[in-house]
Amino acid sequence: MSSEKPHFHLESSGASDESLQQVHTQLQQQKPEKPEGYSRFPLVVLGIMCMSIYLGALYLAHHAANFDATVYNENQPARKGAAEPAPVVTPAMLGKRLFTANCIACHQTTGQGIPGVYPPLAGSDWAQGPEERVIRIVLHGLSGPVKVSGKDFSNVMTPFGSLLKDEQIAQVLTYVRQEWSNNAPAVAPEAVAKIRAETATRTVQWTAPELLSLTGK
Ligand code: HEC
Repeated sequence: MSSEKPHFHLESSGASDESLQQVHTQLQQQKPEKPEGYSRFPLVVLGIMCMSIYLGALYLAHHAANFDATVYNENQPARKGAAEPAPVVTPAMLGKRLFTANCIACHQTTGQGIPGVYPPLAGSDWAQGPEERVIRIVLHGLSGPVKVSGKDFSNVMTPFGSLLKDEQIAQVLTYVRQEWSNNAPAVAPEAVAKIRAETATRTVQWTAPELLSLTGK
């Protein structure tokens, strides 16, 4: 009986179409009005998201090394040579190369020379003596009698001034002065340049007495 009541009530109230419409309009007006357009907050969030994706992509494009799998892979053994430092060529190594290319034919790998023919550099007072002398010997050569380590030689050493640059003469002499337990200061390219300039007009080999008088020894 009670469930039929509203029905009965509506019927009995004899509500006209007009009055029903009025009630509806009233109800509709009570509802809060929907704001028009988009709410600002989600727009801002969307903007931030787009910006992050864009900046993220930009970052990867610059720093991801084209997504190359071999750039960093902890499971992959290091490529051979990748972490090893590049081989360093020291002045001593260059000096040894120059010596091998220009001097061993006569003075030998051991620096001992050939008895009676080519004087030794190992232990030699000339090789380890004043740099003004050895630089001159290599620039213009040496000929005639010379005493090396108590032994007499009288031969000819060819000049190297036109074959080797100042730096190369410095390197080969530094090698000669510090190899085979030789122990004399290194020779600087500037010292070679200076003597090359001073002796520019020289065309013949030095003699031992000439060199000894030059340096006062
Ligand atoms: C063609 C053979 C020959 C070559 C190559 C040669 N020398 Fe000599 N060197 C000699 C001879 C010979 C003498 C001694 C000259 C003399 O008897 O007056 C000598 C003397 C010397 C001396 C002084 C004496 C001594 O034994 O200490 C030095 C230093 C020297 N040479 C360094 C060099 C260097 C450095 C090179 C390479 C850039 C070189 N020589 C290349 C033949 C050579």
